Amino acid sequence: MANDDGAFNAVSGPPLELLAGWLAEAAAAGAGDPRCFTLATASADGTPHARTVLATGVDDTSVRFTTSRPSVKTADLAENPRAAGVFHWPTLTRQVTLHGHAAELPPDEVRAAYARRSPQLRALAWVYEELGGRAPAGPGEVRPVFARHLELDPQAPPPSWTTFALRPDRVEVWWMPDDAGPPSRVRFDRVGGGWTRRFVLP
Ligand SMILES: Cc1cc2nc3c(=O)[nH]c(=O)nc-3n(C[C@H](O)[C@H](O)[C@H](O)COP(=O)(O)O)c2cc1C
Repeated sequence: MANDDGAFNAVSGPPLELLAGWLAEAAAAGAGDPRCFTLATASADGTPHARTVLATGVDDTSVRFTTSRPSVKTADLAENPRAAGVFHWPTLTRQVTLHGHAAELPPDEVRAAYARRSPQLRALAWVYEELGGRAPAGPGEVRPVFARHLELDPQAPPPSWTTFALRPDRVEVWWMPDDAGPPSRVRFDRVGGGWTRRFVLP
């Protein structure tokens, strides 16, 4: 993407449509799993926590991810629904950041999202179910539980597995141009039913 006035217009559509397009391009570029993003939450006292999660869907209002209820992120979000997310695709030198609220969705979305996970991440969901989110004694305790569920590969998600929708009120897209120019960053803020858009320093 060239870095000139045209670049600003190149990102003129709704930002979550842009995110969906960049996800598809990252998938085509074939580096790791492009759906993984860093999710940041904070407890009621403001202590931040961040971790990688897999985006199971992007629509025009939200980015969805699935997780296990007995986890730090679900405890944080119950106390404080504000959350942030960062997608970074190093081979494309692109980044999308999201700031908004995350809320749990009804269980009917959970099954479909679970089926799209890798067998390893499906097994991990069952490890959380079996260990109830408590701290394991060590890898020796996790390994056999993980191996058993990987072999069984249950096609249904465990009851503790749930889906959240992160609904951003701010989205920023950052990219390097194709030429030798500086990178660009465009900030979208949700206002009413639409988005405002402006250039900010990268
Ligand atoms: C590539 C990758 C994908 C992951 N996907 C998820 C996911 O979709 N949901 C999830 O809860 N944890 C996922 N994890 C594990 C989380 O990073 C984290 O360790 C776990 O959710 C516990 O986080 P918490 O205790 O801060 O809530 C993933 C980890 C990696 C490295």
